[in-house]
Amino acid sequence: MAPTVGGNPLRDPRDRRLPRLPDASALVVFGVTGDLSRKKLIPAVYDLANRGLLPPGFVLLGFARRDWEGHEPFIQFARECAEKGARTPFREETWDRLASSIRFVKGSFDDDAGFDRLAAELDSLEASHGIRGNAAFYLSIPPSAFPVVLKQMERTGLADEKAAGGWRRVVVEKPFGHDRKSAGELNSLVDDVFGPQDVFRIDHYLGKETVQNLFALRFANTLFEPIWNSQFVDSVQITMAEDVGIGTRAGFYDETGAARDVLQNHLLQLLALTAMEEPVSFGADTIRAEKIKTLRAVSLPTDLTSYAIRGQYEQGWLAGERVKGYLDEENIPATSTTETYAAVRLGIETRRWAGVPFYLRTGKRLPRRVTEIAIGFKQAPHLPFDATDTTELGHNQLVVRVQPDEGVTLKFGSKVPGTAMEVRDVAMEFLFGEAFTESLPEAYERLILDALLGDAMLFPDNAEVEESWRIIDPLEEFWASTKPFTYRSGSWGPAASDEMLARDGRRWRRP
Ligand SMILES: NC(=O)c1ccc[n+]([C@@H]2O[C@H](COP(=O)([O-])OP(=O)(O)OC[C@H]3O[C@@H](n4cnc5c(N)ncnc54)[C@H](OP(=O)(O)O)[C@@H]3O)[C@@H](O)[C@H]2O)c1
Repeated sequence: MAPTVGGNPLRDPRDRRLPRLPDASALVVFGVTGDLSRKKLIPAVYDLANRGLLPPGFVLLGFARRDWEGHEPFIQFARECAEKGARTPFREETWDRLASSIRFVKGSFDDDAGFDRLAAELDSLEASHGIRGNAAFYLSIPPSAFPVVLKQMERTGLADEKAAGGWRRVVVEKPFGHDRKSAGELNSLVDDVFGPQDVFRIDHYLGKETVQNLFALRFANTLFEPIWNSQFVDSVQITMAEDVGIGTRAGFYDETGAARDVLQNHLLQLLALTAMEEPVSFGADTIRAEKIKTLRAVSLPTDLTSYAIRGQYEQGWLAGERVKGYLDEENIPATSTTETYAAVRLGIETRRWAGVPFYLRTGKRLPRRVTEIAIGFKQAPHLPFDATDTTELGHNQLVVRVQPDEGVTLKFGSKVPGTAMEVRDVAMEFLFGEAFTESLPEAYERLILDALLGDAMLFPDNAEVEESWRIIDPLEEFWASTKPFTYRSGSWGPAASDEMLARDGRRWRRP
């Protein structure tokens, strides 16, 4: 007999158009009082509940060292986070249902008794919610706390599926180490406690609809794939720009910098999805296999001085407000050489991409918040027009707008109406917000749901993480003996970055 979903013989489990509901299970959040949990995780859980995507036996279990007695103060805390941060409207009936499944356990990471209470609470959820031993542990905690929390989980058997009688998974937040060596150590630490198939590493960019749309754009159409190669593509620019500064995360940021914070994960993942070959099927293993092949083919420029540029913001103006320079930010040492901007030219040594530069850039205090992938095509080999007719014609360009104004823009030349034959760039736009009625879910909604479903397609694996560090480590090593260039807040980064492209006869796109 054909497999069914939830006993429904009319439903094909392979049908991805229908929402899938996870098994009854607990989502245990360590660091539940932290910034990420307050702003993203709790609101995403509420949004999932509101969309009817959580199973009846779902439990949100917070673990924190707050002096909260019983479950009620945490329920109140979670309500405030949901009211403030949720994407979908706040509805009392959704909340009441969710609130009845929220639990709290008090404890600190080095406190054995706290973890024993957590294990006992999980056991008790069998009887009250029928979770059948299923639990996902979300480590929304400082990376330095990973070893102690994992050891506690090992000690109390929290990761032991056999003893639990259900599945046990762990969700890990970035940063995954600060270089290849530490990432390898972290991976083996996690692998000692959980099986590789039970580890879900979050790169929230992969949870974005616009990023997943790259699969549809490339592999569901006939139009783009034939020209997605060095024969037609001149260069690719991948940009993640933020208008904000470092906010309240000075300590973390000053140790990390833009390359480790964004280039190593988000930008290299976007590069891998843009450049990878077509997977043989649409599953976690097949997609990861293609991404890792692409990352392994990434080459660094030999001349790092010219093609690996980093910068640090100085004071300036943004949105009509005067803003401080990086060195004047609270808790940043006046001698800091941490970069807030990084740009690099990478190559991909495959038949498809050899010779096509991939320019990656990220920075803080740039003029606007925008993430996009711009594929620049080669100019037509011959233009049967007078040179003056095409002065306003640039390269054809396909721009995937990851955020905001999510969508795709195609830029091409068009005749300007009139008696002359003048050709000028025009843009054809697809906007998610106009084409579809449903507003785009937050990345964390999708990723939390997928972790509960055990679908690892949108989570990078160990090999990808370590391969990404192979690309970043030489840059960090080179930069360690240099000082970053400076750039004015509100500008598009240091002049050296513009010069990097000018040297190649190109320029950065103004998003
Ligand atoms: N915030 C973001 O936007 C963001 C984005 C991407 C990745 N991340 C990653 O997500 C993780 C969490 O980040 P975050 O910004 O939420 O950090 P955070 O605001 O500093 O929160 C850390 C959490 O861990 C708890 N904690 C720390 N030491 C503890 C201990 N010994 N015992 C019990 N609880 C302890 C804190 O509890 P107290 O409240 O009691 O101090 C707090 O709930 C980090 O790995 C970070 O790199 C964060």
